[in-house]
Amino acid sequence: MTHTFYRDTWADIDLDAIRHNVKQLKNLYPSPKNVYAVVKANAYGHGDIEVAQAALEAGADKLAVALLDEAIRLRSHFPHIPILILGRIRPEQAPIAAAHNVMITLYQAEWVEQAKAYLDEPLDVHLKIDTGMNRQGIKSADEAYAVLTAMQSSNLRLKGVYSHLATADEDEHVVLTRQMTRFKTYLQEFDGYISEDVEVHLGNSAGSMRFPNEMFDSVRFGIGMYGLYPSDLVAAETGIPLKPAFSLQSRLIHIKKISPGETVSYGATYTAEQEEWIGTVPLGYGDGWIRQLQGFHVLLEGKEYPIVGRVCMDQFMVKLDRYMPVDTPVTIIGEQEDAFVSVDDVAHHLDTINYEIPCMLNERIPRVYHHKKD
Ligand SMILES: Cc1ncc(COP(=O)(O)O)c(C=O)c1O
Repeated sequence: MTHTFYRDTWADIDLDAIRHNVKQLKNLYPSPKNVYAVVKANAYGHGDIEVAQAALEAGADKLAVALLDEAIRLRSHFPHIPILILGRIRPEQAPIAAAHNVMITLYQAEWVEQAKAYLDEPLDVHLKIDTGMNRQGIKSADEAYAVLTAMQSSNLRLKGVYSHLATADEDEHVVLTRQMTRFKTYLQEFDGYISEDVEVHLGNSAGSMRFPNEMFDSVRFGIGMYGLYPSDLVAAETGIPLKPAFSLQSRLIHIKKISPGETVSYGATYTAEQEEWIGTVPLGYGDGWIRQLQGFHVLLEGKEYPIVGRVCMDQFMVKLDRYMPVDTPVTIIGEQEDAFVSVDDVAHHLDTINYEIPCMLNERIPRVYHHKKD
């Protein structure tokens, strides 16, 4: 939630961009297909309650999270919206999930047997099938039957069956086809168990954006909702115009001219070759702006300037080409005049994926929510 803050660095979250992105997907999935807004990990670092609210306003039907804790927090704000926990909860926590009316994921017969001892009320569950991710889920029809048989004498009600794709964002078909085929084979196998109201779902953003006709009853829309593409391939192939919701802003808190031979920051890893203007920006690895971002760049007055010297816990330094006053706006991620630094640019510098960037910029950075007009 937005609250008063005093620091000079903050993340701007554009809730209209979230709404726009959900609408793009909803265009592919008009009712009765359901769109789950995936808001785990504090909505990929964007703010769970605010993003969930915007997503629901734009037509998302349900919410998905990883943890029971995340589900309970959302439930207190959204009393009537279906919420699915994608991760595993412990069997003794089943009554807590039931009391909060959240749906859980299960895939172990022993789990069902253990949960029975605790559960007095009905609890809605989705059966997770592992079609090739090898993370969570039943691995054979026998395992599935063991789960479904154990459920027959319990308060657990089968509401969904799903799987998760490992390579839907990639230019490869072997794993993807194998997963899709396995999923369909399981569904045929369980025909007698799966009633009309059991929800079948498979797609993440990549799957749902690329293969809208193969996505069964529902899709789980995560990264795309934040305006980030699962990969360049998905962007190019689908052409779906997404708008990034996350930007990161700061202000210069200090500026000084240093002489040739002077060094900057811990370890003296940067040495000035001539007289140079060095600005200080109040963001550091204590915020998740990690030391590997030395050598990356930020925007001041619409132009890129390099981060020089080691990134500290609370600050980093930037080499400027002229004097700029204290309080000069610094855009770390986002648009400034005609220049732009994207989440993908940061991810590329760090040799990682865009998902990781807003997640790693931690709660020490306040989130400020905006409703920009299109
Ligand atoms: C089971 C499951 N479904 C859906 C998603 C959403 O994926 P994406 O952010 O690629 O849309 C995730 C995210 O990791 C997930 O673990």
